[in-house]
Amino acid sequence: MSTDTERKKVSLPALYRMKADGRPIVMLTCYDYPTAHFQDQAGVDMILVGDSLGMTMLGYETTLPVTMDDMIRHAQAVRRGAPHVWLVGDMPYMSYQPSTEAAIRNAGRFMAEAGCDAVKLEGGREMADRVAAIVASGIPVMGHLGLTPQSAGALGGFRLQGKDAHKAKRIIDDVAILIDAGAFAVLLELVPEQVCRIAAERSKEAIIIGLGSGPAADGQLLIYHDMFGLYPHFRPRMAKMYADAGKIILDGIRQYRAEVTDGEFPQPENWFGMKADEYDDLVRLLGGDPT
Ligand code: KIV
Repeated sequence: MSTDTERKKVSLPALYRMKADGRPIVMLTCYDYPTAHFQDQAGVDMILVGDSLGMTMLGYETTLPVTMDDMIRHAQAVRRGAPHVWLVGDMPYMSYQPSTEAAIRNAGRFMAEAGCDAVKLEGGREMADRVAAIVASGIPVMGHLGLTPQSAGALGGFRLQGKDAHKAKRIIDDVAILIDAGAFAVLLELVPEQVCRIAAERSKEAIIIGLGSGPAADGQLLIYHDMFGLYPHFRPRMAKMYADAGKIILDGIRQYRAEVTDGEFPQPENWFGMKADEYDDLVRLLGGDPT
């Protein structure tokens, strides 16, 4: 395992080299400082501070209520915990849709206030001008196609996208449009593996990241909370669970509750006392008589 001092900061040329060499890029979502520290220590290449934090961290039913201020606060914490990763800030609902000016201003906030390396936004050809404008401001952009949670309602829910040939072609064309607009990477979420494979084969330099979209992508993304059973309401089929940390935490809290209730916690190793003479002085100061 690398340590803080050993690990070099991941750069965009390094990510391009990984694609060129066929070395898969490892990406996870992250929203807080301690988890960011673990991910950096484990050698994760890219972190997405996703607006999924609205659901996983803030308890909303969708990502739509998430604000720029929410995103900046979490991205700052993640950057403090993971100084070496390539950090991508996810542009929340209505932070880029209204205009290219809004898109540039809010993308700039991720860079200036949170130390992000790039931003991500959802949408295809209709967002190409936003991508081009942000890139022209010097900020790397990751596109996001397939299942795009900010428009999950319009897409018919959280389900596979691009199942029929025409819709699949539109996704593949949109990948090319976003790359032409300057995107350094495109995330394909929940599309058939064939669609992801064709997009990755056609993209000579730009990086294709897959989420539930098969092995041909240049890198893989998982939602951290799915990986460890930390989101109580929903477990997507495609997400591999590496440990049921949610169960471990719940069991621990139940045990704590039982021990407090039964007087088993705390034990002497869980508290501190004061020296006897200081205690005697204290009793005197309080008007008592130490005996
Ligand atoms: O917000 C997020 O975590 C995302 C992923 C679903 C890709 O956009």
